[in-house]
Amino acid sequence: MAMIARKCPEIKVTVVDLNEVRIAEWNSSKLPVYEPGLQEIVESVRDQNLFFTTNIDENLKEADIIFISVNTPTKDYGSGSGQAADLRFVESCARRIAEVGGGNKIVVEKSTVPVRTAQMVKEILSGAENGFDYQVVSNPEFLAEGTAMSDLENPDRVLIGGETTDEGKIAVQKVVDIYGHWVDPERILTTNLWSSELSKLTANAFLAQRISSINAISALCEATEADVDEVARAIGSDSRIGPKFLRSSIGFGGSCFQKDILNLTYLCRYFGLPEVAEYWQQVISMNEYQKERFVRRLLNAMFDTISGKRIAVLGFAFKKDTNDARESPAIGICKRLLEEKGSLNIYDPQVTPESVLKALSMEKDELGDRIRFFDSAPEACMNTHAIAILTEWDEFKELNYEDILQGMLRPAHIFDGRNLLDLEKLKKIGFRAFGIGKI
Ligand code: UDX
Repeated sequence: MAMIARKCPEIKVTVVDLNEVRIAEWNSSKLPVYEPGLQEIVESVRDQNLFFTTNIDENLKEADIIFISVNTPTKDYGSGSGQAADLRFVESCARRIAEVGGGNKIVVEKSTVPVRTAQMVKEILSGAENGFDYQVVSNPEFLAEGTAMSDLENPDRVLIGGETTDEGKIAVQKVVDIYGHWVDPERILTTNLWSSELSKLTANAFLAQRISSINAISALCEATEADVDEVARAIGSDSRIGPKFLRSSIGFGGSCFQKDILNLTYLCRYFGLPEVAEYWQQVISMNEYQKERFVRRLLNAMFDTISGKRIAVLGFAFKKDTNDARESPAIGICKRLLEEKGSLNIYDPQVTPESVLKALSMEKDELGDRIRFFDSAPEACMNTHAIAILTEWDEFKELNYEDILQGMLRPAHIFDGRNLLDLEKLKKIGFRAFGIGKI
């Protein structure tokens, strides 16, 4: 919304939310999310044509176009629990829009939703029978965290789906016109509603599939002395495959990939396609396997036990340049290390200790001294038996590992879960060093 406000000075953008604390944070000098470049963009337009308020009804009434941008987490109760998307927030938005009325409106689904959600939104809106016309348009978001501002400014594509009626086409065009302020018309794709909804889930499934594919090969590399980075480079230079999203790692995380694939598999089962569901389920299974493989390799290298040993965990965010730890692979790995009776020294440049504990669903008291938090990587590594790099923060590349080694217990291990470091150099200075998909 901040990018729309910035690029379209004649459009008034108002972000409304029930949560007063969040809105206050959006109006403050410390935004509730860490995203490079976001603060500057928000501050350049806030209180000019970008507003944050809890005054929901009045703004819904006034708006010509409403973007529904609420959470659609995986359902954790009842039918479809653990797989289906929980659409209650989308539904309550639709109900509120219908209730307040105020005029004809275009309602845009920005949240990631299962295919055919627009049908539910349409039924709720038309059920209001208030004499106003509502057009539902799908406009999924493809930005990635950490690079959100440049993704929004220079998107590969903007996708806008709508009904194929005359009114539907007019609504789609109005949304196209917003993005047309800064996006090349060739990059604005229009489709029918259902293709647009399904494309978002499919895009994330394909991206995650690439990571699981290269991670599957990483296991084979470790068994055969091939090097997964070399294999990725070799296959990625085939223009049909391409070089992106072939970085082998401890597995993908984040709020989207797992949730969207689970949702896709649920939809496949719902529509009577169990084989298709199984196919996509494997992408998640491989991701789980990759995390467990990392833990097993670590245990194996540390003489099959980490009981009573302390491990420095560098990075907890699901990727660099974000303070987001949702579904981070670090969660499962840290839980397993604690289960094996290891103790952890955790450092992440952006994720707070509170967020780490919340992600682990653990209280500080229950862990006592088995988990400690630090303000820098070198401090976290002092007096540890091993370092595990779980997020690819740039600063971990610049550390003085020779100095760090001096403060560690021997033999000192380093497990680079993001293939960030030069293992040969680390071995030369005295580390027992391990990457992913290489020996
Ligand atoms: C993703 C999609 O990229 C974006 O288009 C969509 O709108 C939301 O979901 P995001 O979750 O922010 O974005 O991050 P992304 O950069 O896709 O990374 C997801 C996970 O995959 C991270 O844990 C990352 O470390 C991992 N990853 C990514 C790899 O392990 N290897 C890679 O080569 C790329």
